[in-house]
Amino acid sequence: MKPLRSVLYVPGDKPRAIEKARTLRPDAVILDLEDAVAPEHKAQAREHVRDALRTPWRVPVLVRVNGLNTPWEHDDRELALTAGAAGIVLPKVEDARTARDLSLGLPLWAMIETPLGVLNAPHIAAVPSVAALLVGANDLARALRTQPHPDRTPLLHALSSVILAARAHGKTPLDAVYNDVRNPEGFQRECQQGRALGFTGKTVIHPDQIEGANTAFGVTTQEAEEARELISAWETARAEGKSVATFRGALVEQMHVDEAQEVLELWGVTEG
Ligand code: COA
Ligand code: MG
Repeated sequence: MKPLRSVLYVPGDKPRAIEKARTLRPDAVILDLEDAVAPEHKAQAREHVRDALRTPWRVPVLVRVNGLNTPWEHDDRELALTAGAAGIVLPKVEDARTARDLSLGLPLWAMIETPLGVLNAPHIAAVPSVAALLVGANDLARALRTQPHPDRTPLLHALSSVILAARAHGKTPLDAVYNDVRNPEGFQRECQQGRALGFTGKTVIHPDQIEGANTAFGVTTQEAEEARELISAWETARAEGKSVATFRGALVEQMHVDEAQEVLELWGVTEG
């Protein structure tokens, strides 16, 4: 199991930030050639990204390319393919065919950030090369004409649709970025909401957001301990010939044991 609690976007035209990212602890990095890079810096950003991929990283490093019908799409894809990216992050994916045609044999992380993308998310998630669905909430909110809301109420239907599509096909749903990098409390609340909704982890834009996402989407010592105790209660009940067990007064079935084992597995790869 590879944890994806925090996925850090790093602007491709900022070599200093790229070098800093090596010293940080996100579970994956996305070197961005799209929205974080101004048109006049696109070519130079590609060179920085190529350089960055020459030296190995501790975590998977993906490249976010510019989208279809932009002047940079071909050069960006060629770079991602030849420079050794762990995958391609493709903006504004709206249909399965695009996802199929543009993965180029690499894992594709499809950004769902338009109304059509949300409606077609189940078809996009079903494409074998698609490994993850990432919500792009800024673009989506704009396209839907929603108003900002601290609890993201206007976006909840879309967020859950993306999670549903990803989970139905065994893909990883990743939550959107939180823009206000100087508001750790708001960020933490949104992480907890994202986890409760079913996201695996969060895309982040600043070093200060990494640890909070790792904590919110990770496993606490207490959760790991509870998982161990639940499994032990189950094993005892089974040894006594019972089909079901109880743990702290609540019914335990095989699904709860599977869930507890997943918790311990994530604990093992992140803390163990
Ligand atoms: N990845 C790696 N390092 C980053 C970083 C990132 N995403 N964001 C900031 N840093 C580094 C800075 O380079 C700086 O390093 P230094 O101390 O070595 O100079 C340090 O963290 C502190 O940065 P700070 O001054 O707090 O950030 P800022 O106010 O200049 O910039 C943002 C804030 C949001 C503009 C910046 O974090 C950013 O560009 N984030 C990424 C945006 C992005 O990728 N968008 C596309 C996806 S939505
Ligand atoms: Mg976008």
